[in-house]
Order: sequence, then C-alpha cells, then structure tokens
Amino acid sequence: MNSNDLKMVAEALSMQQSWQVGKVLDRKYELTRPLSSKPVANAYLATEIETGESVVLRRCPPGAERGSLEREWEALEACKGDSVQEALSLYPASGFLSVMFYPNATPLIDLSPEQVDAFPILLPKILKAVSHCHKAGWIHGDIKPSNVLWDHDTNAIRLIDFGAAMPIGLSRKHLGSWHASVGFSSEAQTAGEGTAHPSDDWFALIRWIRQLDKVDVSEMSRHNLNRTLEWLGTQM
Ligand SMILES: Nc1ncnc2c1ncn2[C@@H]1O[C@H](COP(=O)(O)OP(=O)(O)OP(=O)(O)O)[C@@H](O)[C@H]1O
Ligand SMILES: [Mg+2]
Repeated sequence: MNSNDLKMVAEALSMQQSWQVGKVLDRKYELTRPLSSKPVANAYLATEIETGESVVLRRCPPGAERGSLEREWEALEACKGDSVQEALSLYPASGFLSVMFYPNATPLIDLSPEQVDAFPILLPKILKAVSHCHKAGWIHGDIKPSNVLWDHDTNAIRLIDFGAAMPIGLSRKHLGSWHASVGFSSEAQTAGEGTAHPSDDWFALIRWIRQLDKVDVSEMSRHNLNRTLEWLGTQM
C-alpha cells in the first residue's frame, strides 16, 4: 500500500464515522438509513427535521477531487426536467447536497424476471432522458440499472446519481479523480482518457441491453431491443 492508498483508507474510515444513522447534519437533517450498496455509503435517506419530510442526501466518495460536489450540482441544475432527479439544495461548506426522494420508485436493477418485459417499454424513455442531458450539454457518465428509477404508478423513469456527470467536451486528462462503473464504461473512460462524449452514455446503455441477452424476453421485446441496439450503434 502506498501513501496515497493509505490516505484513501483513512479518508474512507473517517467518512464512514462521520455519517451514521441518527446523525444530525446542519441542524436540519437526521440521517435515516444508507441507500448506497457501497461499504462507505455516499447516499443516505434523511428526514428534514422541521417538516418531517424525507429527502436524499448525497456527498462525494472518498478521494473525490475538490469541486466535484459543485459539478454534480451544476449537472443537476443544467439537466433539470421530468426525467431527472430533482435537486433541492447544495451545502458546499458541509459537503453534501439534497435531492428529492421518490418513495414509489425502484431502481431498474430490482426488476424481477417477470417484470423484465417492461424494460423495452421503458427504454425509449431512458433514451429520451439521456438525450435530454446531452442537449443540455452534459453526459450522465454512469448509466446503469441502479441509477435509473422506475415509478410503477406513472411508468415514468428518472435518472439519478449524477456523481460522474461531466460537461460534454471536458477532457478527463486534468481530472484528479473520476468515476467509471465496471462493465458499463468504455476503456477510455475507465482509463480516464479522452473527453466526455455522448457516446460514453450510449456505450453504457449498449452494455446494459446486451446483459439482457441472458434473460428470457418475449419475441416482441427482443425485436425492440435489437432495433434500439442498431440505433445506438450509429451513435458510437
Ligand atoms: N431520489 C431517490 N429516490 C428514491 N430512491 C433513491 C433515490 N436516490 C437513490 N435512491 C436509491 O438508492 C440507491 C443508491 O443511490 P445512488 O445511486 O444515488 O448512490 P450511490 O452512492 O451511487 O450508490 P450505488 O453504488 O449503490 O449506486 C439507488 O439505486 C436507489 O435504490
Ligand atoms: Mg448509483
């Protein structure tokens, strides 16, 4: 382990201790439960003490470079819309931001085998949501099943977790740290090379759809998925 690794471990340990269930932040929120699957959770469900309402609080992962929380906030503001998680407040001094909690929504990673035929129906909405961010000048940067929420009541989808979002055209070369999800990121993104490009998100979506090859979907769904794959291929 080199000194940088040790610094990261120390930071992760201190972050683990600084956010725990029951902790009050800024005299405004009480942490209710961790939402992330990571050992050091960066997303927590919290209660706004004054109103009793639930919100999601997000902070930067250990090792994140200075300014990355502000960048996430900027991305959320620029990409505002029906298919994007709503940003509420930024607390730069305390190092977190709050976003709307959607109690009736589940991430697409939780789709059961019986629900998998719903995916091709939701897919056009996901394409539209991602395109919407691109038109606003940003890539989401971490498109994957745990970062797309599905509201069962309205059948709406919402992109969440803009922690890896980047302005289109920004070079990764000068970034001190960046995020890439294994299995969903191109070699260049994983290596921190090149510039942020819409094809980074389309690449992730292609990977996601290809993973569905392993599950049983109806002929109709397969047809729709193949058509989408064809279109995505033209965007690379
Ligand atoms: N606004 C929200 N409304 C409802 N559920 C949410 C919301 N934000 C996050 N979640 C839930 O918490 C999970 C993790 O959230 P998020 O992706 O923001 O954190 P993360 O640190 O990237 O964690 P992970 O690595 O597990 O994705 C989501 O997959 C989803 O189940
Ligand atoms: Mg996530």
